[in-house]
Amino acid sequence: MKLKTTYYCQNCGTQYSKWMGQCSTCKEWNTIVEEVISKKETKNRLKTPKGRPVKLIEIDATEEYRMPTNNAELDRVLGGGIVPGSVILLGGEPGIGKSTLMLQIALQLPLNTLYISGEESPKQIRMRAERIGHDKGKMKLLFETNVQKIWHTLQQEKPEIVIIDSIQTLHSDVIESSAGSVSQIRESAGEIIKYAKQTGTPVFIIGHINKEGQIAGPKVLEHMVDTVLQFEGDRNHLFRILRAQKNRFGSTNEIGIFEMYNKGLREIKNPSKLLLTSKETDLSGTVISVAMEGIRPLLVEVQALVSPAVYGTPQRTTTGYDTKRLHMILAVLEKRMGIKLSGKDVFLNITGGIRIDDPAIDLAVAAAILSSNNDAPVSNQWAFVGELGLTGEVRPVTRIEQRITEAEKLGFERIFISRHNKINPEDYKISINGIGEIKDLQALII
Ligand code: TYD
Ligand code: MG
Repeated sequence: MKLKTTYYCQNCGTQYSKWMGQCSTCKEWNTIVEEVISKKETKNRLKTPKGRPVKLIEIDATEEYRMPTNNAELDRVLGGGIVPGSVILLGGEPGIGKSTLMLQIALQLPLNTLYISGEESPKQIRMRAERIGHDKGKMKLLFETNVQKIWHTLQQEKPEIVIIDSIQTLHSDVIESSAGSVSQIRESAGEIIKYAKQTGTPVFIIGHINKEGQIAGPKVLEHMVDTVLQFEGDRNHLFRILRAQKNRFGSTNEIGIFEMYNKGLREIKNPSKLLLTSKETDLSGTVISVAMEGIRPLLVEVQALVSPAVYGTPQRTTTGYDTKRLHMILAVLEKRMGIKLSGKDVFLNITGGIRIDDPAIDLAVAAAILSSNNDAPVSNQWAFVGELGLTGEVRPVTRIEQRITEAEKLGFERIFISRHNKINPEDYKISINGIGEIKDLQALII
């Protein structure tokens, strides 16, 4: 039999007919690897199912039934529970707590759950389960990595929920290349997804991601599944954030917040103050903002460090914030306030290991930079909320009432917002400062 081979980029999954040094899709070097694919697989691929078009009005449009997972944070991120037959990919760096989260869900569910592990031995999993507790006694464990054998077991056991830990350990007989390679992951996931769709069984697939934040190997996997959840957080912090990157059955705005403790992961119901470091004194460069994560307000601390650049090119480094957005804010501060920042290093950090994309924290970022640049502390009793426009105007943000109320509830003295956010200051006990232009900020805070 003539071996059929194909070349895949191990980083993004793009397929090539010949080897190349650099992947033209993700621009990574030396990631294209030859993988052996047998003829059988190619033949299978060609079989397309026959379908018949149906009228749109004939399609049932009632809300999908959802199974609750008994975990409020996970349910919210999923959009209200698990949709039958859906395939959910749970990605995250090794050691972040993916197995712990899934095991915990499996133990708490009063359903026949099959936990398929190729990562840890049954004994290790048993020991972890003891630690977590809450065993409803219905979960079964399968230590297997061969997709065909897994399929066979699934047919016999007919579990109500399946958990695969992890996709990188699975291998299919049909493909020759090693476990974890792009073609193996694609084939194995394809079989599992087919099972989920045919039987209506929901499946969670755990996938490790690499440093760059991609599911190692297959970006393709993200397109195949219904929902992509990302489990993130700083391993040095106890907090873990569960975020939906893609969700066919819900919004991608929601996040779930957990805390890792000695008995697994604890749901954090009221996270708003969680990410603030409890500093006693006011330090320069630290400013507090109220971000929205889904429908919940979250107080975040922005830390900036501005210092003269030691080497030629000044550095701009961010953690938890978009670097391009930082460049934009620095440019606005230079142009509209005449502050010389081009010769300085700027480091920006969102504390607590969380990533914030809400533009409403722009004003806090600008304030933190000004505070560090002037070495003048900003009170930790103040909060800053506003989006920054290119002309230097402070623009209004969504859900301002909710943000003000949260800051008030947590005992802040003052909140700086855009002058264009229409609110009635009489409605609140907290002092409210409306700002029109970024250049007005300096006089107010320093
Ligand atoms: P794990 O779920 O194995 O991570 P992943 O599957 O994403 O690789 O989590 C591993 C870490 O979690 C490990 O460093 C120990 C810690 N942990 C706790 O702190 N408390 C616990 O109760 C458990 C089970 C794990
Ligand atoms: Mg694991």
